[in-house]
Amino acid sequence: MSYQVLAVLTLCGALCTNLIAKPLEKRIEKPARLTLIPQPFHQQLGRGQFRLSDKTRLFVSDAVALTNAGLFNDRLEQVLGFRLAVIQKLPDKTESNYVLFRTEQDEAGKQNQAEAYALTIQPHSIELKGAAAGQFYGTQTLLQMIPVKANSIAHLQAVSIVDSPRFSWRGMHLDVGRHMVSMEFIKKFLDQMAFYKMNTFHWHLTEDQGWRIEIKAYPKLTDVGAWRKESTLGRHVKPYLGDGKPYGGFYTQEQIKEVVAYAATRHITVVPEIELPGHAQAALAAYPELACTPGPFDVATNWGIFEDIYCPSEASFVFLEKVLTEVMSLFPGQYLHIGGDEVPKTRWKNSALAQDIMRRESLKNEEELQSWFIRRIEKFINSKGRRLIGWDEILEGGLAPNATVMSWRGEDGGIAAARQGHDVIMSPTSHCYFDAGQGPGEQESWGLGGELSIEKVYAYNPVPGILNDVEQDHIKGVQANIWTEYLNKPEMIEYMTYPRLLAMAEVAWTAPARKDYSGFQQRLVSHYPRLQQAGLAYRIPRPGGMPAQINAKDQTYTLALFPPVKGSKMYYTLDGTAPDTSSHQYFHPLQIAAPPGQERVLQVLTVTPEGRRSAIQRSVIRNTLQK
Ligand code: ACM
Repeated sequence: MSYQVLAVLTLCGALCTNLIAKPLEKRIEKPARLTLIPQPFHQQLGRGQFRLSDKTRLFVSDAVALTNAGLFNDRLEQVLGFRLAVIQKLPDKTESNYVLFRTEQDEAGKQNQAEAYALTIQPHSIELKGAAAGQFYGTQTLLQMIPVKANSIAHLQAVSIVDSPRFSWRGMHLDVGRHMVSMEFIKKFLDQMAFYKMNTFHWHLTEDQGWRIEIKAYPKLTDVGAWRKESTLGRHVKPYLGDGKPYGGFYTQEQIKEVVAYAATRHITVVPEIELPGHAQAALAAYPELACTPGPFDVATNWGIFEDIYCPSEASFVFLEKVLTEVMSLFPGQYLHIGGDEVPKTRWKNSALAQDIMRRESLKNEEELQSWFIRRIEKFINSKGRRLIGWDEILEGGLAPNATVMSWRGEDGGIAAARQGHDVIMSPTSHCYFDAGQGPGEQESWGLGGELSIEKVYAYNPVPGILNDVEQDHIKGVQANIWTEYLNKPEMIEYMTYPRLLAMAEVAWTAPARKDYSGFQQRLVSHYPRLQQAGLAYRIPRPGGMPAQINAKDQTYTLALFPPVKGSKMYYTLDGTAPDTSSHQYFHPLQIAAPPGQERVLQVLTVTPEGRRSAIQRSVIRNTLQK
């Protein structure tokens, strides 16, 4: 059996055992006429439409259903301007024009089933069934079916959907150490994650350049460690130039609780990251006695990797255990992320204390000392009933017995960990680092560098084919990461996040056999107005029909462009100058002279109906025929 078919069958879960008997290909090849993202596991279009109006009523089976109906109403109020009456019972047979939210029990521990739902839309009624999380996801599906610009009545296509996720960890990471964001920003971020069925928010809370979480036992972490005297000016990392502007801030424990609760309502687990033993310079600025050398230390102002890390002293363990105890009291999820990445060993090499521990514990090198450090932290975390996750460097010197590995330097770390029987989250830089630009071009240069197109994100398969079935089962999910060294404005983070988050959502949720990039692109078009409505500074994609390189075979090349966002205008130049709104507006296919041996450059600016401007996109047209 091919992997895809196996995956489809295993992901089907209890809700669709009766579907398995039908030929698989028929279901898989049915063209999608809905525009849902992520694409559901199974959808069968029916006849007719349900008319959702202010007369529609919501029946709820219990308290869980009542909560989901409430969330549905909150959203309806925003888009349609009304709330629907909620009736706390099951409808009898004479009822029509209703949505029934019906809770099904999930079997403990079966996350795939807990997140599954069945949604049936018929002309006279809608029924949504699932356990708490599944019903929530079904609610998001239903909300995605309501047109963005619906008036007082929304027509919903009759359909029967049976859906469940491919992975249990569908993550988005956000670095607030380098640049932090407001509470409103985080809530908006969580709203979008939920709308696209992502369920894990990895909150990177400590860094060399800033400690961002209030810890009551160690007030200097935020009094001192949350503030740096300046930041790197532009790209002047080496040689360093500072911007001269003090920067800082942190989240209070009350704010942290608010984020955790807000996320929980949306079935998102917040995984805090407290970096150790490296990326700790802000903590050492506050408590220099935790380092191997006397200090003093400054909160870092430059971007990079820093030599000063926690010394493996008893004082460091007392500190870290107290910090992690407070962190665990704030974050109820099972996982604590302890970082573990990019740890220079220079200070440990030169430290008598570190070298004594290595002799005492028969550790061969500093990598084994790091492993010893992390094992000790893991033992503490496990003793509190929690699980440790770290970046793939935690493999070096030997993995802690129960650790989960987040594979970022490619997939090798994840593969090695899965082969050792450890759980893995795939997050390789090649496909998951959203600080890389989304395309070529000057305005794509906000991030750390590199290029990661939405197509490449979409193409990612987090389960390496070289693993056997048992090892593949250890791949628990996938995550996109956003590092904010160069993203010092919230709209920059949004630009880097959207629309790639939608592609990652489909990687994380949708069974491989149901993925299809051209179908995704078609569905994506209808999501831009939703991103706009949510007030997100998403990246406006390249116009359709505009490849980066064109090899013309004739003297004239004809190019038809398609607006990337409905109703947008496109302005272009062919003379090497940057287009603006006074340039030629595109109305008809362009006849571009392409003399042999010469190069023409088409540059296009897109302006959305709301007036947002795209990055300038280029096509180079070459005629390779000899003159
Ligand atoms: C990382 O990107 N340093 C995990």
